[in-house]
Amino acid sequence: MKNVDSKSHVRGESIYLDDIPLLQGTLFACVYDSPVAHGKLKSVDTTEAENCDGVVRIVTAKDLVGENEIGGILPDEPLFADEEVHFQGMPVALVLAETEEQARHAARKITAEIEPLEIVTDPRVACLKNDLIVPPKHFILGDAANAFKNCEYVFAGRADVNGQEHLYIETQGAYSIPTEQGGMKVYSSTQGPTAVQRCVARVTALPMHQIEVDVTRLGGGFGGKEDQANAWAAMCAVGTQLTKRPVKYALHRMEDMRMTGKRHPYSADYKIGLDKDLKIVAYEVVFYQNAGASADLSPPVLERTLFHCTNAYFIPNVTATAYSCRTNLPPNTAFRGFGGPQGMFVIESAIAHAAEKLNVSASEIQRKNLINNGDEFPYGQKAISEALTTWTQADEKFDFAKIQKVANEFNRNNKFVKKGVAVQPICFGISFTKTPMNQARSLVHVYTDGSVAVSTGAVEMGQGVNTKIAQVASTIFSLPIERVKVHTTNTLRIANTSPTAASAAADLNGKATQIACETILQRLKEVAAPLVEAETSDDVSIENGFVFRNGESTNLDWLVLVNEAHFNRVSLSEHAHYATPGINFDWGIAKGHPFAYHVYGTAVLGVTVDCIRGIYTVDFVKACHDFGSSMNTSVDYGQIEGGIVQGIGWLTMEEVFYDENGKLRSNALSTYKIPDIYSVPKEIEILPLETEKENPAIFNSKAVGEPPLMYGIGAYFAIREAVKAFNSEHSPAFDAPFTPEKVLLNLYSETMKQMKAGK
Ligand code: MTE
Ligand code: MOS
Repeated sequence: MKNVDSKSHVRGESIYLDDIPLLQGTLFACVYDSPVAHGKLKSVDTTEAENCDGVVRIVTAKDLVGENEIGGILPDEPLFADEEVHFQGMPVALVLAETEEQARHAARKITAEIEPLEIVTDPRVACLKNDLIVPPKHFILGDAANAFKNCEYVFAGRADVNGQEHLYIETQGAYSIPTEQGGMKVYSSTQGPTAVQRCVARVTALPMHQIEVDVTRLGGGFGGKEDQANAWAAMCAVGTQLTKRPVKYALHRMEDMRMTGKRHPYSADYKIGLDKDLKIVAYEVVFYQNAGASADLSPPVLERTLFHCTNAYFIPNVTATAYSCRTNLPPNTAFRGFGGPQGMFVIESAIAHAAEKLNVSASEIQRKNLINNGDEFPYGQKAISEALTTWTQADEKFDFAKIQKVANEFNRNNKFVKKGVAVQPICFGISFTKTPMNQARSLVHVYTDGSVAVSTGAVEMGQGVNTKIAQVASTIFSLPIERVKVHTTNTLRIANTSPTAASAAADLNGKATQIACETILQRLKEVAAPLVEAETSDDVSIENGFVFRNGESTNLDWLVLVNEAHFNRVSLSEHAHYATPGINFDWGIAKGHPFAYHVYGTAVLGVTVDCIRGIYTVDFVKACHDFGSSMNTSVDYGQIEGGIVQGIGWLTMEEVFYDENGKLRSNALSTYKIPDIYSVPKEIEILPLETEKENPAIFNSKAVGEPPLMYGIGAYFAIREAVKAFNSEHSPAFDAPFTPEKVLLNLYSETMKQMKAGK
């Protein structure tokens, strides 16, 4: 079934923040942000800006009625800098003006006196200074220190993986409107309407019931709007509070890139120990997370790095430590995979390192160590594993050995073009690791014309969650999907929502919708039973718009039944609640059963490297993917293809670059390259895993939002193989992304050394 939004998207009729018609009197906002990454804020001069045309007001920290604080997890993030600036791009003042141009013009006239302080951009440096966001976290399974003593082979090294710009097509933004009695309505491009509501309440000192947050849809979020949409909504709300006028702020691309955080870069030290049969016996890893200037979501992102530090492998002895390090960069944040992919990159680097030294293929080590049913993850949960099944089915269908053979043959026959191949298993846990967040509500109304309206806490951001929710209602009521409309995400209709994140939105909100629809359906069956002379409501069913008695159609149709119920004063509405059963986690012992289930898969990737220029193409990505049983293959395949391309981009061409002053140099699309149509894999082939297993996902259809991104990790290792095919003596550092520049430097590592030595 097609995405319910496809028609209005193609016609340009879907409503994003910037499409909301503006009310008369709307003011426009623009931020003045810190030009330096760290310093004492001595004074801010707004005089010239105040005298600019159209300027109505300039807001700084001292004007706030409520708290100058937006940190959701830790109170370490002021909305406007007051005493210090902590990163370049940190908001200092907000201009409110009659037009957007006037606001931007005036913002450029503001100046600040800032006394420079030391700038730290490297997480290892921050860690040495003990500048940590939270105390270090540990996962321990077995006894790694002892197990290393009995290993046949032990290898240690370092792996670095950089950040990633979200580059949602729709930039961050918000629009706030005053309502009666001092309240306000805030439209926000956010994954977390409740987070925005809480944040607005905090900075305005209004109670939450005075604040309505509404989200139509997002032009992409990818985690970047889970927490970081709050600031702009808070600024607009403060503007509305102070001026009693509507205030809009939609960031320009360069403002967005400069002022918002990205995927966390990580640096890590690993040590891996294997026995003579290539079984991984012990693994020790220390992660240094580059958190940026404040906590934001760094602590839970750090935790998920630990949760996924052994990827799809079973390792009996693991000691994993993770430091969240405070640096003078914009606060880094959630990004598809939420720290998991970074953890996986490091174990894959360790395996590649071992394979290189032992002169075996990495896939041999990977294959031998896949997690089996009943094996324990380092956090205590026992696996219900599809790791080996997806591997075997992918291998049977795509023939890894043959793919490798073709590449080897090609490499023998070509001197300046080389092919590389990598196999990439994935394993990703579904549920928020913070157990209380795994709850959702759905409000379902059946109207007297028989049509159905659904509201949930899920935010549509292109991932198709609204389509899946509409499918749930249409399936349970047995109505055509056109009879169901999923409405905006609104905090008055659905309260206390978890953000749309952790790939869990369809499960949580879909299940709540299922419960609501089933409750209404049961009432309708009870109304129908006497009308069709059925003994009990159990003998009644509703199929394709008609009431059935004991499996046989009657004349009673949906519309008549709905009106009969209403006439008899039976409620046609339901507000249902769902909480994922059976999950828990205890950070006291760092053990538990945090995930409702895991998603598995195995991909094989092939690349071709041009060894004269250093450029490359991804020839194919072929994966056996664990959908459970997909409830919408067109939505799910779209998620897989998009996820793979985004993952490949992260590890290859996308390079976030801050200089030593903490200034973002990759600050526009001209200096930050994302995959375009020419650089996506020439072929993506998806083989759905064949399994009859039941799982706790909505309609057995496992979450698909984040896991496929991690297939992209294989692109890094495939390129590395191709580079080694050209420069066989060289062992490229594990330092992602593998940009064409870096590929070239590694292809000609000897020449580079000689040049450096001045030869
Ligand atoms: N797909 C699109 N098109 N746009 C997005 O912003 N976000 C991803 C993923 N797929 C995203 C996307 C992220 S980070 C998550 S957590 C999930 O979608 C969230 O949606 P779900 O829970 O409905 O899968
Ligand atoms: Mo996704 S990173 O959990 O928003």
